[in-house]
Amino acid sequence: SIAYLNGSFLPLEEARISPLDRGFLFGDGIYEVIPYYGGKPVGLAPHMQRMADGLAAIEIKCNKSIEDWRVLLDDLIAKNADQGANLGVYIHVSRGADTKRYHAYPENVEPTIFAFAFPIKDPEPVDRTKAHGYAVSSTQDLRWKRCNIKSTALLGNVMHYQQGHASGHGEILLYNENNELTEASSSNAFIVKDGKVITPIQDHQNLPGITRRIIIDSLKADGSIPVEERTVTMDEVRNADEIWITSSSKEIAPVIELDGKPVGNGEIGQVWENAFRIYTERKFD
Ligand code: PDD
Repeated sequence: SIAYLNGSFLPLEEARISPLDRGFLFGDGIYEVIPYYGGKPVGLAPHMQRMADGLAAIEIKCNKSIEDWRVLLDDLIAKNADQGANLGVYIHVSRGADTKRYHAYPENVEPTIFAFAFPIKDPEPVDRTKAHGYAVSSTQDLRWKRCNIKSTALLGNVMHYQQGHASGHGEILLYNENNELTEASSSNAFIVKDGKVITPIQDHQNLPGITRRIIIDSLKADGSIPVEERTVTMDEVRNADEIWITSSSKEIAPVIELDGKPVGNGEIGQVWENAFRIYTERKFD
């Protein structure tokens, strides 16, 4: 596997950073994960815009334009073609290494820029009788109040994901102290009720997911399935006809079991299939 680190391509196992790197010491950095299918990225521009927004929010200066990133990542994908046709790219920009450990942002430190590619699964078939249905659990969201920033400090997410993993699941739905759905430990969440697709509004409680955005925009452009962004209570989630979790690695994943109980009739729903077809037709736009 060939990685990119601070201006050079090199074998991943040869990549080295300083132990004083603030990404290592403080989780002081921003990351992205972008899927490439057959060499084509999904949502490259919005992914890199989100990264620029995150870097601006924490005052890290990284002067790469979206076009610079496109060239760099195309190069990285080409150098890793032997890993398969479908690759995820992980991009990480940390504040860099200071000469000491001190909480405040240091001056005159160069950010550390790192990226590598890894194989991802083929997309699921657009067929509700053949796709994989997920079982998930739920718990109160105990992360921080800046979940809109895609921070490399992921301990809160990791602890929640582990909770889901330990209960025999991969993902876990999260809700706030008012019993309102926020997102999942590494995905956004949607419900379907009476043919309508509903997802929590984007605020400080969840990540502005690119898959989420592409789904909403594709459904609106298509026009055959109504979609709404609003507060979603856990009572609504438990009474939903369908639940989906969405991310760059999962695309739209249908959930068929929540906390040991079937979602709707316990089968992957027809709205999932229709929405996944619309998304699949438009995801490279
Ligand atoms: N996770 N919410 C959280 C907490 C996430 O970590 C992710 C993505 C999403 C979905 O965002 P997007 O559609 O832009 O991938 C929502 C990535 C894939 C990860 O950490 O591996």
